[in-house]
Amino acid sequence: MTSYEQIFENNRKWIAEKKATDASFFEKIARDQRPDYLYIGCSDSRVTAEEIMGVQPGEVFVHRNVANLVNSTDLNVMAVLNYGVRHLSVKHIIVCGHYNCGGVKAAMQAQDLGILNPWLRNIRDVYRLHRNELNAITDEPARYNRLVELNVQEQCVNVIKLASVQQAYNDHGYPIVHGWVFDMHTGLLIDLKLDFAHILHDIQEIYRLD
Ligand code: CO
Repeated sequence: MTSYEQIFENNRKWIAEKKATDASFFEKIARDQRPDYLYIGCSDSRVTAEEIMGVQPGEVFVHRNVANLVNSTDLNVMAVLNYGVRHLSVKHIIVCGHYNCGGVKAAMQAQDLGILNPWLRNIRDVYRLHRNELNAITDEPARYNRLVELNVQEQCVNVIKLASVQQAYNDHGYPIVHGWVFDMHTGLLIDLKLDFAHILHDIQEIYRLD
């Protein structure tokens, strides 16, 4: 494991490396940010947004929380989405879940988890919405993996419900919302290939705000 002191040594090494490849790297990033991507992922220490995407500082606006949830009463994620869409004009919004997600696993257990109860209830709601499909999967790890995917899908739907997203898409044709799952056994980033335009059209029967 990295020691506390090592972190600051790492930082100085990183500065030297960045300057060696681009002498004005820090001037450039200090000037402005114009990221094309807004990433909403899990707080899990193994799923780092920039590293798994292979992107540099300035390329992705990031929000992470337990089990990558997009809850309309969470001022934090709502502020990130509003700023990302209305001010940064991001082209893509990604909700990235991951297999082996402790949050999703906890939500599958009949147990009082204190303050996590209202948070994880969002995942139980996903389970209820897709109960028939999930209950038909007899293999428990497979059912858990599918819940991870369906949770990503439902959080994408929550993003698409937002007025800011619907209005920006009407005006510019972006942002496009994507659902991904990170498989930490292989390192692969899996695009769930959600049909953004179809979901938008489908939910606007009820959630139209543009
Ligand atoms: Co997780």
